[in-house]
Amino acid sequence: MSEAKIYPVFDAIKATTHVTKEQYQAMYDRSLNDADAFWAEQAEEHLDWYQPWDTVSKYDFHTADIKWFAGGKLNVAYNCIDRHLPARAEQTAIIWEGDDPNASQHITYQTLHDKVCQLANAMRSLGIVKGDRVCLYMPMVPEAVYAMLACARIGAIHSVVFGGFSPDALRGRINDSECKLVITADEGLRGAKPIPLKKNVDKACEGTPSVEKILVCQVTGNKVGWQDDRDVWYHDLVDFQETSCEPEQMDAEDPLFILYTSGSTGTPKGVMHTTGGYLLTATMTFKYIFDYQEGEVYWCTADVGWITGHTYLTYGPLSNGATTVVFEGVPTYPDASRFWQVVDKHKVNIFYTAPTALRALMGAGDEYLETTSRASLRILGTVGEPINPEAWEWYFHKVGNEQCPIVDTWWQTETGGAMIVPLPGATPAKPGSASLPFFGVELALLDDEGNVLQGEASGNLAIPRSWPGQMRGVYNNPKRFHEAYFAMYPGYYFTGDGCRRDADGYYWITGRVDDVINVSGHRMGTAEVESALVLHEAVAEAAVVGYPHDIKGQGIYAYVTLMAGEDYSDALKAELIKHVRKEIGPVATPDVIHWAPGLPKTRSGKIMRRILRKIAEDDYGSLGDTSTLADPSVVDDLISRR
Ligand code: WTA
Repeated sequence: MSEAKIYPVFDAIKATTHVTKEQYQAMYDRSLNDADAFWAEQAEEHLDWYQPWDTVSKYDFHTADIKWFAGGKLNVAYNCIDRHLPARAEQTAIIWEGDDPNASQHITYQTLHDKVCQLANAMRSLGIVKGDRVCLYMPMVPEAVYAMLACARIGAIHSVVFGGFSPDALRGRINDSECKLVITADEGLRGAKPIPLKKNVDKACEGTPSVEKILVCQVTGNKVGWQDDRDVWYHDLVDFQETSCEPEQMDAEDPLFILYTSGSTGTPKGVMHTTGGYLLTATMTFKYIFDYQEGEVYWCTADVGWITGHTYLTYGPLSNGATTVVFEGVPTYPDASRFWQVVDKHKVNIFYTAPTALRALMGAGDEYLETTSRASLRILGTVGEPINPEAWEWYFHKVGNEQCPIVDTWWQTETGGAMIVPLPGATPAKPGSASLPFFGVELALLDDEGNVLQGEASGNLAIPRSWPGQMRGVYNNPKRFHEAYFAMYPGYYFTGDGCRRDADGYYWITGRVDDVINVSGHRMGTAEVESALVLHEAVAEAAVVGYPHDIKGQGIYAYVTLMAGEDYSDALKAELIKHVRKEIGPVATPDVIHWAPGLPKTRSGKIMRRILRKIAEDDYGSLGDTSTLADPSVVDDLISRR
């Protein structure tokens, strides 16, 4: 691989940065060599506590027991709202930008406080108490953020489910964590298209014994189904509540939220994060990674349904007292200049998005940039998948006018916050590399046998020590937590990603090494899509792999074997695609269905995915050894059907 270009740190950023290159090295060294002291200082500096902790950290990766700041007491909503009121009551906390370009709203910290307290009181009136699970299935409206914070205020555990998941997928998540309350909206709006959220919730809740109430926010005002003894309008209940609500004093290790994410096997896992360590990671990483300066306007384009929408749309910015933009719409409505129009309209200083969006906008053409100046931008960021150097260069030269550093942030739902990232005032950037570890993050590259690789190397990315924002468990399933992350390489948290370290010690994520694919920055388990396909009566067997996709990064490629007597027709292909959308949701829509009357299997019956990946990539020259297949002729047959 040829060595990449290096972009030096901007002098203008150096002048005001929180962390210079020298400071980065000193802080990083201390974060590893005197870890507990380092984290104790950070926790005192960045968060307000009711009561200090007994121990800073205690963890064992062999047993998957992890604790940070145990015994310490704090409240996340207090830290994100109340503590800012003396200085910032009238500062804008949230700028809401509607799907309709003429709709926007500024919400001050005082208003945020009042709205969150009202909702918290309303939830208490519905019987929600500390430790109860509340499912949020919301569009990108301010109430989504209020709901997260209201849960945090009273100690309820939120489980946000992305609005692009189907009723079936929603039901599975509600049942897994036995949610008592669902907060949703009549409909969402994306690109002028209504998303039938309440209708989906109604369907999901046909089989959710734990759900007692559904709180419905009115967004579009269109008619929805109603069950009087169960459904409550948000405006009927919330708007009449008191605007103060005493925050619950939570232990640092009390759960804050559950967020379901795909793994290589089984159903999605309920990744559980707790209060103190998570908030510290969110707060610190936000401040240092975006080099946030007092008064700046920050925009993260992620949906609240993903971890990025938790850490970098809600908790990180609000804990720092920043102004955070909540955008209801999509990047291409009314046209592909929307992001840049919004940047100019709200004078956005820090902008954080996903490579897939950049590739789509780059493909739409530079004319969509020409109507805007984007002069307010100071820092750009990306997340969710490796960014290809072409998209990086376009982002840097065109979007940022060569004035803004780009922070390429590598992290995961499980890590709570960014782990590998260039700091704007400290780290020269190499396009396509997430670069260097954040404070307290120790990285290891392991070969398949678990040997540690030194120097320049490629291997499996693993982490030998804990950090505050690390997930604490799979909800209700400690065994699965251990198996999924700590069993593969004893003593390490295994990320599931492959990675290369170059001669300068920069890290280059190469993508998943397990059966997870990354579609438009969204994680999808191949096993989940396979299970959905085989639920269809015509399908005997299915094998799903990822393949390179120009815009999405990876696309979903499904090989399908039909039941005897079924007809391999185009109509059935379309039906199967519809079926997967119904089972999991539009996020899992297969890009390609490839008919496979036979799948390449070993004599012991194991599907050889390596071969399926090669065929999906159109790379027949390097199929490798096919002689161990039970029936080598299936490979030629598959190629002939491409
Ligand atoms: C991938 C999203 C390369 C990676 C925050 C990881 C990335 C998975 C990057 C987690 C990046 C995320 N460069 N790859 N900057 N960021 N990934 O849980 O494969 O939705 O394991 O968290 O996305 O996806 P998740």
